[in-house]
Amino acid sequence: MRHLALLSLLVTASAFAADAPNAAREKAWKADIFPMLENSCAGCHGKDPAKKAKGGFNIMTLESAAKGGKENGVGITWGNAAKSSLYTLSELGATKRDEEMAMPPKKAKSEPLTKEQLAKLKAFIEAK
Ligand code: HEC
Repeated sequence: MRHLALLSLLVTASAFAADAPNAAREKAWKADIFPMLENSCAGCHGKDPAKKAKGGFNIMTLESAAKGGKENGVGITWGNAAKSSLYTLSELGATKRDEEMAMPPKKAKSEPLTKEQLAKLKAFIEAK
């Protein structure tokens, strides 16, 4: 019986870790991830509270970035960068500049993420 209780505790804990922004993620977001997105993305996605975030996507907090915008699905699907618009559109921006949804858009002044930054973003989303 004690084992069963422990097991259900573990299951609950890992289910929580699978989708909620937890303390470790918040810390990594603040220290490593947000600073690298800020220059490339924040100008159109929430930095100026007086301007509406484009596409309804606000990148200023992990919570809002994870939620995503109006039309392109969840910002972060924990464990799956391919299902995270934050990642997929940044990747388009870095590799297929002509795509309509490439982020930042081709005509924007800000720089797309570098290969290293994309890899970092992917690792953040897919970390266990
Ligand atoms: C120059 C302004 C600009 C910059 C810089 C920019 N974006 Fe965007 N972004 C837009 C616009 C405009 C849209 C809405 C496009 C549309 O819906 O056709 C958008 C939409 C999005 C969406 C989709 C929201 C939704 O669900 O509809 C995501 C995700 C996104 N941007 C992420 C990023 C990321 C990540 C960066 C930085 C790597 C970035 N953007 C940089 C202008 C910008």
